[in-house]
Amino acid sequence: MPSGVLTRRPPYPPYLSLTLPLHAPNIPVVTTRPVEPDDRRAVAEIILGWGSDIVVTRGRIHHPIDLPGFVALDDDNKLVGLVTYTISGRECEIVTLDAHVKWQGIGTALLKAVCREAIAASCTRVWLITTNDNIDAIRFYQRRGFVLKAVYANAIAESRKLKPQIPLIGEHGIPIRDEIEFERVL
Ligand SMILES: CC(C)(COP(=O)(O)OP(=O)(O)OC[C@H]1O[C@@H](n2cnc3c(N)ncnc32)[C@H](O)[C@@H]1OP(=O)(O)O)[C@@H](O)C(=O)NCCC(=O)NCCS
Repeated sequence: MPSGVLTRRPPYPPYLSLTLPLHAPNIPVVTTRPVEPDDRRAVAEIILGWGSDIVVTRGRIHHPIDLPGFVALDDDNKLVGLVTYTISGRECEIVTLDAHVKWQGIGTALLKAVCREAIAASCTRVWLITTNDNIDAIRFYQRRGFVLKAVYANAIAESRKLKPQIPLIGEHGIPIRDEIEFERVL
């Protein structure tokens, strides 16, 4: 997981957000659009937050900087999130997903954008790999209709041979060991 995960959950529990006005000052309005050539520098910065310019899933090396994606923008047009993906046949793999500010709807907006794109490309499923320590992601995807497809125990040992920058210890002090595949059938 990128060590520089950028923010913390807001000080109030999510259910309280129901009582907040729609445009409370600390809640950005998020829009998404496809990554454009001018985004390249900002995209590279986010990707490098994952330890290097490559991401390894199922033994395959991705170069997310060169992949299609969507950026999320706040109401000041500032880039606040990024998703990259790759489509192969009828399958769409989410390669990276980052929200600069957590718990404000950025991840959801980006996930929706990529699912819409997958549907437009006639994909039958969207899938992704996360790791056993990424409790936020495991919760996030299941809340959005993704189901656990497979657990590849100890797969990260192989990934580390391709990307030695993958830390040994991840979120919450949990050793990063396993790849977890989630999918959403479209
Ligand atoms: C996983 C990740 C992308 C989720 O993004 P996010 O922007 O925090 O996700 P969202 O804000 O859309 O949703 C998270 C929760 O915040 C809640 N939320 C959204 N807007 C809110 C608001 N204004 N006030 C309070 N809660 C809010 C959502 O309802 C959601 O809760 P739920 O899942 O119980 O419904 C993010 O945690 C992240 O960037 N993690 C680091 C990178 C990473 O690990 N990526 C995944 C790799 S596989």
